[in-house]
Amino acid sequence: MPVVTVPPARDGNPQRPRTNRNGLVSTDEIAEPADPPDTGALMLRDATPADIAFIQAIADAPDNWDKLETYPEETLRQAILGPGSRVLIWQSRDGPQGFCWLKQEHTGFKLEEFGVLRPGRGTGRPFLQAVLDQLRQAGAARIWLTVAADNAGAIRFYSTFGFIRGAVRPGVWHRRRGPVADALRMDLALRP
Ligand SMILES: CC(C)(COP(=O)(O)OP(=O)(O)OC[C@H]1O[C@@H](n2cnc3c(N)ncnc32)[C@H](O)[C@@H]1OP(=O)(O)O)[C@@H](O)C(=O)NCCC(=O)NCCS
Repeated sequence: MPVVTVPPARDGNPQRPRTNRNGLVSTDEIAEPADPPDTGALMLRDATPADIAFIQAIADAPDNWDKLETYPEETLRQAILGPGSRVLIWQSRDGPQGFCWLKQEHTGFKLEEFGVLRPGRGTGRPFLQAVLDQLRQAGAARIWLTVAADNAGAIRFYSTFGFIRGAVRPGVWHRRRGPVADALRMDLALRP
């Protein structure tokens, strides 16, 4: 049964639906509310300190030990609240699904970190697309990142967005698991 709401009258008091002479509410007087917003839709929002545990859970997931850094709470708090960076959350009705940490630079952004809760299920593509759309709308000229050179899945993922492989810096990434990794730079121009 749909929930029927009665909008407040102009004087701010709840508006009473008019009754007919039998004392029954005239259905003409009760407006069905418009369809409720689709709260299942995914959306981009700014992170708050309440998201720190979620971000750490992704960064510290064992499968990501050789892909992402670990971040102390204070580092993430600064990233969320401090100047020069922005942390975005990909949110569904079921809660946060991914995070994206951007560092602002002169003409664009560095994608400092990017991860989703359940990789390989189509979360990352619309999430990164929404981030790039927002950066383009804001007039950013470019975005770049570094990724472990053996993180083939992520490299392929970024390539599908047009990120171009750049220089490799050998042995710069000391990981929590596995050997020291080379870091691959990837760049994407956001304007033609
Ligand atoms: C990289 C990551 C963010 C991608 O998000 P995702 O939700 O897994 O990606 P999607 O499921 O939306 O896949 C999008 C595309 O990327 C490619 N892709 C994603 N993960 C892949 C993998 N492990 N291997 C091969 N291709 C992969 C697919 O080609 C896919 O293409 P399709 O849309 O044509 O099927 C996610 O896998 C992740 O969090 N990985 C662990 C952390 C990490 O490596 N972050 C990047 C650090 S720089």
